[in-house]
Amino acid sequence: MADDPVAAQIGPYQVELEEGRMYAWCACGLSERQPFCDGKHKGTGLEPTRFKADSSGTFNICGCKDTDEAPFCDGSHNML
Ligand code: FES
Repeated sequence: MADDPVAAQIGPYQVELEEGRMYAWCACGLSERQPFCDGKHKGTGLEPTRFKADSSGTFNICGCKDTDEAPFCDGSHNML
């Protein structure tokens, strides 16, 4: 069974994404390269969410790891 994710930050990270580029969102909360995966999920049973940016711009990427719209912030941090 997978570990529960830990909140890396109670709020989103504002990051620049580039259209068409692939990213790996850290789902476990342990990465030191938030909000992206650095491989520290190994052994947790959790895996990063890989996604391709649909457009270029600044986006709110989930930091609390409780979003239902990964990798994007859905406001779930307000309930923690
Ligand atoms: S380090 Fe968190 S999912 Fe990879």
